[in-house]
Order: sequence, then C-alpha cells, then structure tokens
Amino acid sequence: MQIESDVLIIGSGAAGLSLALRLADTHRISLISKDALSEGSTLHAQGGIAAVLGDDDSIEAHINDTLNAGAGLCDPEVVRFVVERSAANIRWLLESGIRFNLDTDGTRFDLTREGGHSHRRIVHADDATGRALETTLEARVRAHPNIDIHEHHIAVDLITRAKLGLPGNRCLGAYVLDKEAREVRVFRAAQVVLATGGASKVYLYTSNPDTSTGDGIAMGWRAGCRVANMEFNQFHPTCLYHPRAKSFLISEAVRGEGGRLLLPNGQTFMERFDPRAELAPRDIVARAIDHEMKRLGIEHVYLDISHKPAAFVKKRFPTIYRRCREFGIDITSEPIPVVPAAHYTCGGLVTDRRGRTDLEGLYAIGETAHTGLHGANRLASNSLLECLVFAEAAAEDIRESGREPPADTIPEWDASQVTDSDEEVVVSHNWDELRRFMWDYVGIVRTDKRLQRAAHRAALLLDEIEEYYGDFVITGDLLELRNIAVVADLIIRSALSRKESRGLHYTLDYPEPDRRHPPRNTVLSPDNYPESEETRLSAGA
Ligand code: FAD
Ligand code: SIN
Repeated sequence: MQIESDVLIIGSGAAGLSLALRLADTHRISLISKDALSEGSTLHAQGGIAAVLGDDDSIEAHINDTLNAGAGLCDPEVVRFVVERSAANIRWLLESGIRFNLDTDGTRFDLTREGGHSHRRIVHADDATGRALETTLEARVRAHPNIDIHEHHIAVDLITRAKLGLPGNRCLGAYVLDKEAREVRVFRAAQVVLATGGASKVYLYTSNPDTSTGDGIAMGWRAGCRVANMEFNQFHPTCLYHPRAKSFLISEAVRGEGGRLLLPNGQTFMERFDPRAELAPRDIVARAIDHEMKRLGIEHVYLDISHKPAAFVKKRFPTIYRRCREFGIDITSEPIPVVPAAHYTCGGLVTDRRGRTDLEGLYAIGETAHTGLHGANRLASNSLLECLVFAEAAAEDIRESGREPPADTIPEWDASQVTDSDEEVVVSHNWDELRRFMWDYVGIVRTDKRLQRAAHRAALLLDEIEEYYGDFVITGDLLELRNIAVVADLIIRSALSRKESRGLHYTLDYPEPDRRHPPRNTVLSPDNYPESEETRLSAGA
C-alpha cells in the first residue's frame, strides 16, 4: 500500500513541526520521524531564540551582528528577511502556547546575551528553550486531525521522475523504512519537505543527538540538488567534559551571564585572543580553547560561573545545574570542565527564500538547508529562528502550489536481490573510523595534508558502503552510515576547495582570508562531481 498526502514532511524538529502546524488546517500532512517524534537537536537547544524585542535593540543591529559573524558570506537580503520576521515568529510561538522567561516585574521578556550579539536579544525558556518549543509544538501536532504521524520511520531516498526514467524531473515522494516492521513503504505527495536537521554526528565529539546524520542533505544530493558551504562546521566551545556525559552542552548563555573560561591554574585566557574575550563569536572561542589545550597538553579547560550568587545560577540554569550535579559537579561552587564539540552544520542544500530546492516539489528547511543566513559562521541562537521563518515561508509557497500528487506509477521497494547481513561489524567499524578521521583531520584547525588524508579515506569508505548497501537488507544504522559518508565527502571536498581561512574554516596553510577577490560560496553540484575514487582524489589534490 502506498501512503498518499498533500505534503510529506520528513523530520519533526522546530522546522518540521512548525511547518506541519502552519499547513495542517488546509493540507493533509504525513509527518515522518526516524526516532520518537520529539528527538532531534531542537529538543536539546538551550540558549534561546534571537529576536529583535528589546527597547534599545534594532533590526539593523541584529542584521549587522549576523553579517559580522558570517565573515562576508551571508546573503544580506536573506539576513534582513529573517531578522525582520523574528518578532512575528516569537508572537506565533506565544500563540502556540510556549512560555518564555519574563523579567522580574513580569511585563517584558528576560532577554539574555550570547557571543557575537551587540545587544541582549535572546528569548529563552530557562536553559531549556528547545524542550519548551519541541514539546509544546509536538502536543499541538499530535492533536491535529490532519497530521498523520509516523514515528520510527526513516526516509531512505527521495523518489523522482528522473530516477524512474521519466521526463520532466520532479520529486514524487520518498521510500521510507518502518524501523519496527522492517518494511519499506512508498510515501507519495504533491510536495516533499526535508526538515531532517544537521550532520554534526559526522564528528567523533558532538553536542548533537544521534539523529544528526545529515540524511536530508545526502538524500537531496543524491536526487540532484546542489549543496553549499559544507566546510563551515561550527564547533561549540563548551561541552561538558566527563567520561559519562554524552553530548551535554553548557550553554553560551553561561558566558553571556558572566561565565569565565579558565586554564587549570585558574587564569583567564580569552582576552589574549579577542577584545570581546568570552563573548567573542564561537569560532574564535573554540579555536582559542583548542590552541590552549594543544599548547598545554591538557584535555579540557574550565568554565566558571561560581562567582555569581548561587540562587541566581540555580534559577537561571536549572537544567545545567541539575545535569552537572549528576556528575558530581556543583556549578555554584566550582568550575565546569569543558571542551569544544561539533555543534552546527552551516552549509546544506541550496534553497531560495521560500525553502525551494533545485528539484521541483522538494523543499528543505531548518539546519538541512543553506539559505544564505549564516555565511561562514552562524551567530548564536539564529538557527531556531531560521527554522521558524523558513517554515513560514515554505508554508506560504506550498499553499500557492498544486496539491494533487503526480499521477506517475511508483514501483514498490525491491528487496529481492539482498540478504540479511552476517557482517554487521562493517557498519559499526566504518561509523567509528569515519567519525574519528573527521575529528582528527577535518576539525577545528585544518591543513591540506590532513584534508587529503581524509579525502582518501572517505573515498574508500564510500565505495565500501555502497557495495554493502547493494548487497544487504537495509537497517537504520546502515542508512545513516551511508548518508554521513556522503556528507563527510562533501565537507572534505568543500574544505579542500577553499584556499583561505574564513569564519569556521581555519587552515594553517592559508591562515588569512583571501582578499584578492570578493568572498565566494562553495557550491557543489552533483552534475559535475567526480564520481570515481581516482577522479575524486585527483580533484582534491
Ligand atoms: P532537528 O531539530 O535536528 O530535527 C530533525 C528531525 O529530523 C528529527 O526529528 C529527526 O529524527 C528527523 N530525521 C532526520 N533524518 C531523518 C530521516 N532520514 N527520516 C526521518 N526523519 C529524519 N539553536 C538556537 O537557535 N538556539 C539555541 O539555543 C540552540 N541550542 C542548541 C543546543 C544543542 C545541544 C544543539 C545540539 C543545538 C542547538 N541549537 C540552538 C541549534 C538548533 O537546535 C538546531 O539547529 C535546530 O534545532 C535544528 O532544527 P531542525 O528542525 O532543522 O532539526
Ligand atoms: C547555546 O545555548 O550555547 C547554544 C546556542 C546556539 O547554538 O545557538
């Protein structure tokens, strides 16, 4: 049986849920999510959402801060488009039932500050803004009769006319694996939306949940869409360093409220790297920490907020306080051990201002997309905002588009040529290998030589994984490995092609921005991407 709807939304974070809610009164929606509906980066977001709401703040100031962080690669029109819609989207969230913190007299938002922002402009729900957003929108989505929810369903690949050998290419739907029934079904729809989040799981250490495997980017790429700026991987400076703590972030808002970074001897160091010290944009802070760790041979630095009154710290950061207590760290009286970790994918599928990709009938929104907002470095708390604004824009476009699913015949998934794997170890081994070489060779500080090494390994892994994919019954793990390998290759290729340091891409071989010509996006197209290992390697050389 093929499942048909007006709109197929793949992914249920801030982008997917808000789009579903904006369309559900007029459209029949299939919403699929590869894990529980709530799981994804959105659930774990802490700091908040940037919006122009303060009396002394202005649209121009937020635009300037975003452009400054983006190091010459933001699209100024897109930045304005997003910032101008920030206040209206916060109002939409309030109408949807989300409660943000207010100041002491309860009349205005309690706006916090984060790195790179010239003003206090981050609305937040304690230190668990994403949880408030995700769970509130999830409850509304579950209650809506026009939204059919399919949890633990992972999209395998997009179905397009070109792939079926039909003329007039467009997206027709997706093959989706029901992970519990272990069955692949056809989901067909007039419009398909990729809202699958980012790809930070490509790195060994990350603040992201397991869902961030770049599935949408890889699926869009395989369907013929361009990707841009994949070399700009944002590393968050402060993730908790503890052997039992997997991916726990210590929000930038801790620094925004006066937290200081310390070396093991108790000395501050950020003032040596940037006059804004702890509130410099996070690429600068992450690189400074990386530099000090390598210089001193230490495994972490410290983030200290214990000089603030304990009552304030517990009230302002209840989640971080509780979580650190679980690991025996009392943040009101001692510093927190922290390290940088992969946090955000600035690049993604190229979209226009309505979320449309290169392929008719296919949209990409949220962290999966490259809209032009972030440039070479995302300003803190601009990404939830981007999810909301582009969900709104895509909803508008979808309302103006046709809702009849194309009449093309779509064949069922063919599993007749594959068998159950007796070599699961290949999947787990390749996962580990890939994430480790990405961390070691394509991390915070890069060189051409390290990137070449990574390119070589990625090419070998890609070939091995494709062979495995062709032979064995698919599983969620295999699909994610296949996608993350594609994304790793795109990151390495993009990084190799940028012969300068800019924003998040820092290479010892070209430590300065190239000032000989205006800054350029790195746009890769499947049409002229060398396919074989040999050509891939020589193109990277
Ligand atoms: P996600 O929220 O990641 O959702 C992706 C969804 O897609 C998930 O439901 C996932 O299961 C599903 N999915 C993925 N692949 C498939 C597939 N193949 N088939 C089916 N479903 C699939 N940003 C801010 O602006 N402010 C913050 O304070 C902030 N704090 C952060 C803190 C942490 C710890 C992290 C990790 C990120 C933070 N960010 C923050 C970044 C921000 O949270 C993310 O960029 C944003 O939530 C991404 O939303 P999304 O809807 O694009 O993706
Ligand atoms: C944080 O709370 O530090 C994360 C903010 C962000 O990634 O935008």
